[in-house]
Amino acid sequence: MSENPVSSPESLATAAEASATDTVAQHLEQPAPRTEDGSARPVTPGSQAAEGTYRAQPVSFVRRGTRLQGRRQQAWNDHSDTLAVDVPRHISDTSVHPEYVFDAEEEFGRTAPLVVEIGSGLGDAVIHAAKENPDKDFLAVEVYTPGLAQTIQKIVSNELNNVRVVQANAPEVLSTMLPAGSVSEVWVFFPDPWHKTKHNKRRMVKDTFAPLVARVLAPGGTWRLATDWSTYAEQMLEVGAAAEEFTNMHDGERTGSDSPLTAARLSGVDCEQSDEPDTVGGWAPRFDGRILTSFENKAHKAGRVIFDLAFRRN
Ligand SMILES: C[S@@+](CC[C@H](N)C(=O)[O-])C[C@H]1O[C@@H](n2cnc3c(N)ncnc32)[C@H](O)[C@@H]1O
Repeated sequence: MSENPVSSPESLATAAEASATDTVAQHLEQPAPRTEDGSARPVTPGSQAAEGTYRAQPVSFVRRGTRLQGRRQQAWNDHSDTLAVDVPRHISDTSVHPEYVFDAEEEFGRTAPLVVEIGSGLGDAVIHAAKENPDKDFLAVEVYTPGLAQTIQKIVSNELNNVRVVQANAPEVLSTMLPAGSVSEVWVFFPDPWHKTKHNKRRMVKDTFAPLVARVLAPGGTWRLATDWSTYAEQMLEVGAAAEEFTNMHDGERTGSDSPLTAARLSGVDCEQSDEPDTVGGWAPRFDGRILTSFENKAHKAGRVIFDLAFRRN
């Protein structure tokens, strides 16, 4: 990610698509390839190794701008030991050791519904929700160090006891770190769009991701998503529909002129312009627990259409 993860969607994508060998190499999800004499082979920008992989799939982020300064550094120094989950690492500093299991009751000192936000950015959504819902606990999952530090600053300034952050690659958090069935809601708001066709494979929400979310959600739990990219929204809809563990809570809703997809097609803002109405629907109303972040605000200003989705764990 760039230094500012909530810049315009276009610059976000540009930042994510750029690669910087010095920082990216530090975040490989696999050991660097070795030459015959055992020395590390230099990482080729744009290669699979430079992008980093997890379980043979490219990770959904390129980490950049990991340095902290000023208040963020101070907040990290003063509070990360209590507010950031101390994760044993595996093969990189964003990986989670597969034997590590998070104990929410011990961490929060109580039993309460746990909400997990994946890719929490600067923490605006999770902080707002935690203030509104003191009876719930929140875990913010993010790889971007300045975003985590800023979230910690907000936890402290709002005197919140019900939020923790974890610096980790989300699929690892979902596949091993969180106990099965231990989460009441999983939120994925505005994941990096990776909108170029050649980069679509780096999108987080894809067929292999749904079973990971299903694993951690308790029966009846909710998976909420939002995006401002119509092709990603369609992909999210397909992923949820194809996953037998989930039911679309708004199946068939918002078709024709009520559909955000129809609006995106008419405007041609991020897809080929067309007057073909969306006859399928399946879109959720805006989740009222999701505040308008600066990220979404910029999307609105750029004329982009916002899509909300919600799936229930069967
Ligand atoms: C476009 S930003 C959106 C941030 C926030 N949800 C918002 O709406 O303002 C996407 C965020 O997801 C994070 N991210 C991407 N891939 C991730 C992964 N595999 N694990 C954890 N966080 C990830 C990025 O670092 C970035 O901060």
